[in-house]
Amino acid sequence: MALLPILTYPDPRLHTVARPVQAVDARIRGLIADLLETMYDANGIGLAATQVDVHERLIVIDISEERNQPLVLINPEIVWASDDTQLGDEGCLSVPGIYDGVERARSIKVRALDGEGQSRELAAEGMLAVCIQHEMDHLLGKVFVEYLSPLKRNRIKNKMLKARRDTERV
Ligand code: NI
Repeated sequence: MALLPILTYPDPRLHTVARPVQAVDARIRGLIADLLETMYDANGIGLAATQVDVHERLIVIDISEERNQPLVLINPEIVWASDDTQLGDEGCLSVPGIYDGVERARSIKVRALDGEGQSRELAAEGMLAVCIQHEMDHLLGKVFVEYLSPLKRNRIKNKMLKARRDTERV
């Protein structure tokens, strides 16, 4: 297991579209372990492979208080989404310190392979539904700040670039 470096916005690699996982083999199981370790270490509730510069359709999530209910979704597809939406503040390990409102479907049904390569269908609502939609966006090369107004997005981009310059200077 290893901690992986997380790409930060506006890194252009975050806009890469991931390809499907071909086989849930030892390499993918190793990647799952690394993603989970990286997510827990960063105190995140979700992490997409895209964020560690691996462009395959794989996300990990854990929204439990105790941080002991990992959810692994490989090649996830949303098979149903409610018309009913919810507006909630989101954050992202790739956009540290930024939280803003995004409108998402309130309930969804997702089909995906689990960590054993078994096909599963999962119904989700509330925070879990938001988290799955947020992470699946990463696999399409989309970061949540792209839902915000151009003005807000530019402000965030400049803040991130300045933070990066300040880090490089020391
Ligand atoms: Ni994110």
